[in-house]
Amino acid sequence: MKIFIANWKMQLLPTEAVKLAKEMVKKLKDAPHEAEIVLAPSHDALSSVAQVIRGSSLLFGAQDCFWEARGAFTGEVSTESLRELGVKYILLGHSERRQYLGETDEMVAKKLRSALRAGLTPVLCVGETIEERESGKTEAVLTRQVSAALSGLDLQKQELVIAYEPVWAIGTGRAAQGDDISGAHKFIRGLISEFLGKEGRRARIIYGGSVDEKNIGEIMELPDVAGALVGGASLKPDIFKTIVNSK
Ligand code: PGA
Repeated sequence: MKIFIANWKMQLLPTEAVKLAKEMVKKLKDAPHEAEIVLAPSHDALSSVAQVIRGSSLLFGAQDCFWEARGAFTGEVSTESLRELGVKYILLGHSERRQYLGETDEMVAKKLRSALRAGLTPVLCVGETIEERESGKTEAVLTRQVSAALSGLDLQKQELVIAYEPVWAIGTGRAAQGDDISGAHKFIRGLISEFLGKEGRRARIIYGGSVDEKNIGEIMELPDVAGALVGGASLKPDIFKTIVNSK
């Protein structure tokens, strides 16, 4: 099933997030059920947004977690807590966290395991910077990020989503070209099969980075693109609606 995730980042106050969530519920009421639509507000707005979307067709996501279930970890939020709030999907290793918070591949790997233990579906974010792309290191970066997260993982029956998000395309208004997206998705698919074998076949790969209502149609036509992780355009209900209605 296709999946579209609204990553609201740290763009909204809790009251604004509630207002936007209400608008989304109204707008997306009769959205096609062939797609899962996930709202991922910041932690401060989780409880109140959870109440807004309860009973609607929208699903609930969070933007980060800690890897321990409980304990003396000031400022952190566990996957168990997120599950209690109704979270189903959890973004992990977003490039903004890697860049500003020093999140490493090892930390992301621990978070991913914690998410799976708690019954959440990880959305592992990977992608190269512009310097890495220009120096021909895209595949090396994807290999490093995906292998750190997936090696030794026993997926059993759990779901997994990998979001290919080239860092240079995030928030720049410059989405990656079809060839770049196809190439990266194909490469990631190979890595998934290398590390997870048959269990990995269910894993979905989605694209993120300046997705909008104009480019989504073309992106969704590419092979092995199961949906999109949407930042800026997910703050505008009409535009987000057009995105989730794309085939
Ligand atoms: P963008 O963000 O759509 O604003 O480029 C995507 C993301 O960072 O998940």
